[in-house]
Amino acid sequence: MEGIINWNELWKVMRSSSPWRRTLDEPAGSFWDGRAKQFNESTMQNRERAEKQIAKIKLAPEYSVLDVGAGTGRLAIPIAKCVKSVTAIDPSRGMLACLKENMEKERVENITYLNKRWEDIELGVDIEQHDVVIASHSLAMLDIQDALAKMDATAKKCVYLFTFAGRWMDGGLWEKIYGEKRSSWSDYIYLCNILHDMGIYANVEIWDSEFEQHYVGLDEAVAKLKETYDLPSEKEEILRAHLSKTLVEYNGALCLKRKSKSAMIWWQTNTHEEA
Ligand SMILES: C[S@@+](CC[C@H](N)C(=O)[O-])C[C@H]1O[C@@H](n2cnc3c(N)ncnc32)[C@H](O)[C@@H]1O
Repeated sequence: MEGIINWNELWKVMRSSSPWRRTLDEPAGSFWDGRAKQFNESTMQNRERAEKQIAKIKLAPEYSVLDVGAGTGRLAIPIAKCVKSVTAIDPSRGMLACLKENMEKERVENITYLNKRWEDIELGVDIEQHDVVIASHSLAMLDIQDALAKMDATAKKCVYLFTFAGRWMDGGLWEKIYGEKRSSWSDYIYLCNILHDMGIYANVEIWDSEFEQHYVGLDEAVAKLKETYDLPSEKEEILRAHLSKTLVEYNGALCLKRKSKSAMIWWQTNTHEEA
């Protein structure tokens, strides 16, 4: 199919017209700096999601693992307990500060980190090859083909990408906010097609995932999700109306269950044909 659709150009269009386009214009990492603490708290409530992801990655005690966009170390920290060393790359100082705190709490010492965007990392200068490269919900690069090619060149054995299949917001909210037609730029299908055009015939696994979040009241839920989804103020009432119907009482708090489809794309390096 190469040539009929230029998937990398399509990704660029989708990415730069997405609700998160401003992350391309702002200084690297600043978007996540302000969200790091909240992200850290909420992912700590959902540790089994990380365990599920890690169980799908082939690891061994002698391996070196590179985590692109490692964030707070949600995956890097448990992975570090199973392998020789982990390198965490992230442009957000706020996320890396949480990673450092989490490392201290969990007494993990075999993670080194680099405060850079993946685009600015030079193989052979900033980093050496690693056995395994992972990137989980961090594929925010504009030129994703370039980013994937660098991951492929960096991994001695395997690359694992985690993203969503379809829409990642909870049921019905996406349509209410953006209208029916807009699809999510982070959908796994773009990545599969871009890799295919690169001569990388990757494996794909899709599964149902659930994310549970607790709030003291409706106002807190609205404020936190407005920030998480980066919604403009004019959409706040849509979010409030949606949450007032979907939040359920649980142990004196309000609980939100977000359902989505997770996707893992993985391939062994050095086994594919030249594109
Ligand atoms: C949603 S968080 C995911 C963090 C972690 N991988 C996880 O699964 O919990 C996205 C992370 O990707 C990082 N990120 C965004 N753009 C990046 C880029 N161009 N290069 C490397 N990391 C990036 C952000 O700073 C943020 O920490």
